[in-house]
Amino acid sequence: MPRLSVVGGSGKADAGERVDARIAAEEDRGLLRFLTCGSVDDGKSTLIGRLLYDSHLVFEDQMQSAGHGQRRAGAGQAAPLDLALLIDGLQAEREQKITIDVAYRYFSTPRRKFIVADTPGHVQYTRNMATGASNCDFAVLLVDARSGILTQTRRHACILSLLGIGKVALAVNKMDLVDFDQARFDAIAEDFAAFAHQLGLALVTAIPVSALKGDNVVTPSAHMHWYHGPTLLGHLETVDAGRKEGERAFRFPVQWVNRPHLDFRGYAGTVASGKVRRGEEVVIHPSGKRAHVARIVTADGDLEAAQQGEAVTLTFAEEVDVSRGDVIALASHAPSVADQMAARVIWFDEEPMLPGRAYTLKCGNQTTTATVLNLKYKLNVDNLEHVAGKTLEINEVGLCNLDTARPLVFDPYAENTDTGSFILIDRFTNATVAAGMIEFGLRRATNVRWQELSIDKASRAGLKEQKPCILWFTGLSGAGKSTIANALEKRLHAMGRHTYLLDGDNVRHGLNKDLGFTDADRVENIRRVAEAARLFVDAGLIVMVSFISPFRSERRMARDLFEADEFIEIFVDTPLEICEARDPKGLYVKARAGLIANFTGIDSLYEPPERAELKLDTSTATPEFLAETVLSDLRRRHLI
Ligand code: ADX
Repeated sequence: MPRLSVVGGSGKADAGERVDARIAAEEDRGLLRFLTCGSVDDGKSTLIGRLLYDSHLVFEDQMQSAGHGQRRAGAGQAAPLDLALLIDGLQAEREQKITIDVAYRYFSTPRRKFIVADTPGHVQYTRNMATGASNCDFAVLLVDARSGILTQTRRHACILSLLGIGKVALAVNKMDLVDFDQARFDAIAEDFAAFAHQLGLALVTAIPVSALKGDNVVTPSAHMHWYHGPTLLGHLETVDAGRKEGERAFRFPVQWVNRPHLDFRGYAGTVASGKVRRGEEVVIHPSGKRAHVARIVTADGDLEAAQQGEAVTLTFAEEVDVSRGDVIALASHAPSVADQMAARVIWFDEEPMLPGRAYTLKCGNQTTTATVLNLKYKLNVDNLEHVAGKTLEINEVGLCNLDTARPLVFDPYAENTDTGSFILIDRFTNATVAAGMIEFGLRRATNVRWQELSIDKASRAGLKEQKPCILWFTGLSGAGKSTIANALEKRLHAMGRHTYLLDGDNVRHGLNKDLGFTDADRVENIRRVAEAARLFVDAGLIVMVSFISPFRSERRMARDLFEADEFIEIFVDTPLEICEARDPKGLYVKARAGLIANFTGIDSLYEPPERAELKLDTSTATPEFLAETVLSDLRRRHLI
């Protein structure tokens, strides 16, 4: 049996790059990068195995007839049937990986070279698919001829169109199991064509195949004389590969500032799109500063011009301030700069997307914190209707408004897939939780500016002769947060301090009366109270916040709103059993009886702080004693 030229191995993120490098080194005969998608049982592995195996046989045949190479015995005979084994051998290896799981494979025929991204179809398939698709121009979408178009097929088609892959081959597989029935194939092809039209996919070619038996994959089927179209490989060999993105403007995201010695300062990166010439005037975003390109430096000497895909270092004639993450563009074609934007988001994580929660956003070389302001709608992938909703669950797609901590330099995804896409990362688990495609910047953000005020926090606090700070009490319901905070406020008040106590139950009667106890509502509850606390601290007050605040993410978000020494997190560490035994409001009894849903500690999560400034044990000490403990801590920190 011939050895297959399988390159790439399992899902390392750089596998595609290695393959790319290898391809670039050879003559480019029109490389096609494609991905395969479809449900788990649709036969992807068998199909890829068949493509690799049969195309190699054809390749070897032709090599031999051309007088090259030696054909090994048996190579031209029927392929072993378990083609999936070729691919699935890597499966076990893959399953141990926690990172993104895309295997890139390389094969070629005399007519074309191919990179196929094999994206596993299990639970987190959208994550794998989106990763694979972002490197591809074309997709083979598999369906099982017996089951036809399923919700998952539609979801995959949806994601392909979101990612800008408009060309799709619909491989209607397992035709052997429906007796190679033309009517069955036609019905599936029609069903999909209607959906693809709605999605705006530019080209859909339906091909009836049997990956297992080899029909119409590489060689034309002897069982489907009614089919006159190309085989799958024939189609892959001839389809127009390029994405139709048109001429794209020059974009150079700065990867790092190269300053080997004092008289050289260059900005290194890879040209994301377009072209720049020596001497041209460019604009550095977001600062808007202008400069002229003095040199385009590479390891092999200077260039006159640099274009898409080239890694270069730019130097400027003028002294300008440029940092990592800045985007350099030509003055004639500026990117957008905004700190609020509308984006289509594909959610990957098992934990749902929560509006108001802070995530890390990466867009090119830019990294910032971002929150989803609101979900405008989510997509019903069966009929493409817009559905109202507050959160996105795993594998769901929606349109969101986002807010970034720093202004982002970007282009709409429709104009530039490189500078228009981003990923969201969980700040605690570091998992990639979503991919986003920016639709447009929100004008609202650019029309609202900060108003300069003459009296600031320091002057307000000065009048009160105190240092403002925030004491953030967190813990289970009934832990004693409010009782201790109340005792503390009495003590501070007696000492002549200006204070305010924000208490969960009280704030939920007014500002937050529209919120309940779902995860999404709790996130919003904490966001609002943290913002309110920030205003009170800005007013010069010593502020106590007494909220369960069960999630680490939101406590971190609150902390990030303040100066480092202003925020004191106080964990009122009372075990659930004691809170439940105390049950001051009778809520635990009700929660146990099933009368209250989402009760913290019972059927809703509490994530204890890992590094609180103070931890209070309420099992033995009185609230007054614990208030004194807090006071002495504040003295030690020179806050009072
Ligand atoms: S938080 O989780 O969003 O921070 P918050 O501190 O505002 O909660 O409100 C908690 C108070 O609401 C509790 O002390 C309790 O009195 C009441 N409550 C009512 N329902 C619930 C629930 N399902 N979970 C927790 N507390 C609840």
